[in-house]
Amino acid sequence: MPLFDKLRRPLRDLRISVTDRCNFRCPYCMPKEIFGREFAFLERSELLSFEEIARLAAIFVRQGVKKIRLTGGEPLLRRNIEHLIAMLGSIDGLEDLALTTNGSLLTAERARALRAAGLRRITISLDSLDDAVFRSMNDVSFPVTRVLDAIDAAAAAGLTPLKIDMVVKRGVNDASVVPMAARFRWSGHIVRFIEYMDVGNTNAWRMEDVVAGREIAERIAAEWPLRTAEPTYFGEVAGRWTYEDGAGEIGIITSVTQPFCGSCTRARLSAAGELYTCLFAGSGRDVRGLLRAGADDETVAALIASTWADRGDRYSEIRSEATLRLKKVEMSHIGG
Ligand code: GTP
Ligand code: 5AD
Ligand code: SF4
Ligand code: SF4
Repeated sequence: MPLFDKLRRPLRDLRISVTDRCNFRCPYCMPKEIFGREFAFLERSELLSFEEIARLAAIFVRQGVKKIRLTGGEPLLRRNIEHLIAMLGSIDGLEDLALTTNGSLLTAERARALRAAGLRRITISLDSLDDAVFRSMNDVSFPVTRVLDAIDAAAAAGLTPLKIDMVVKRGVNDASVVPMAARFRWSGHIVRFIEYMDVGNTNAWRMEDVVAGREIAERIAAEWPLRTAEPTYFGEVAGRWTYEDGAGEIGIITSVTQPFCGSCTRARLSAAGELYTCLFAGSGRDVRGLLRAGADDETVAALIASTWADRGDRYSEIRSEATLRLKKVEMSHIGG
């Protein structure tokens, strides 16, 4: 029996952040001015250990979770993450195990190791094919060629279908929308265009910077006609579009202009072991404290069940000038 929240949404997915650190400083996520040398990242002892994560994951799966996605910060910065993947892979009843990465540390060898450990799929973020634009968007001058190599490495290792996430910001990288579509047509990879979101309180988000999903679709369809496709599973975040000429599909994630809270089945576990029920929440429930106080599985399961039962989040549907100013957790802490 899955758990249902106040809006009758089942608990199906768990996104687990394994670190709040990242080697990129994308201004829409970890602006340099805030996440600088003096920023207090979590200490090692504050992070959930692999044993704690695996134990929690198993409890979540018993409560209906079918899919787990590892996130960060940058998850491949967490040492020996392959070991965690192997631990999660052995949980009975888990149907899908995926990871979202910026690709900077994904060599061919690493991709093979992740696959061997039991990772099924991977999503790689890539905001532009233009080297200068990409370097300024990651703000550490990381070259685009290395992410393209990571994409090839992941595909060669069988981490497919591969998804490539591009956050679109007007006047910054929106000129890269059509080139990205062009590059990955016929590749078998799925590019997903994400509306720039007002996550956290540090990225100085403004509605003027958002390119609506509709406009993204129109720009691409003007080159290669598109038709909409049915979701692959209930609650899929991206709207699917296929090319009429058979070149494959793209996704568009319209959290701002066409929110999808009505089918949101995702719980999120921060690297510090807090349970969040919305990407835009101000605070989470302290599960780590419970674990470290010696709670048994039933007690932990009861906390998860009551947190989910109390859930009424629908931030994207009620977004306004007022909600913008609320205190919200940072993307790097909760993992997107
Ligand atoms: P699939 O399993 O391949 O469908 O991946 P996914 O779309 O669930 O995960 P991914 O990490 O690739 O997320 C893509 C983008 O969608 C990121 O920018 C996420 O922050 C955003 N996203 C994912 N879930 C939610 C959500 O519940 N609400 C909002 N507003 N955005 C979300
Ligand atoms: N708006 C939209 N997407 C974002 N991401 C990070 N910050 C934001 C934001 N403000 C994306 C990352 C990655 C995914 C996990 O979330 O680029 O692709
Ligand atoms: Fe790092 Fe991803 Fe945030 Fe960029 S969006 S700073 S790569 S966690
Ligand atoms: Fe789910 Fe919150 Fe995103 Fe709505 S805004 S889809 S409730 S995470």
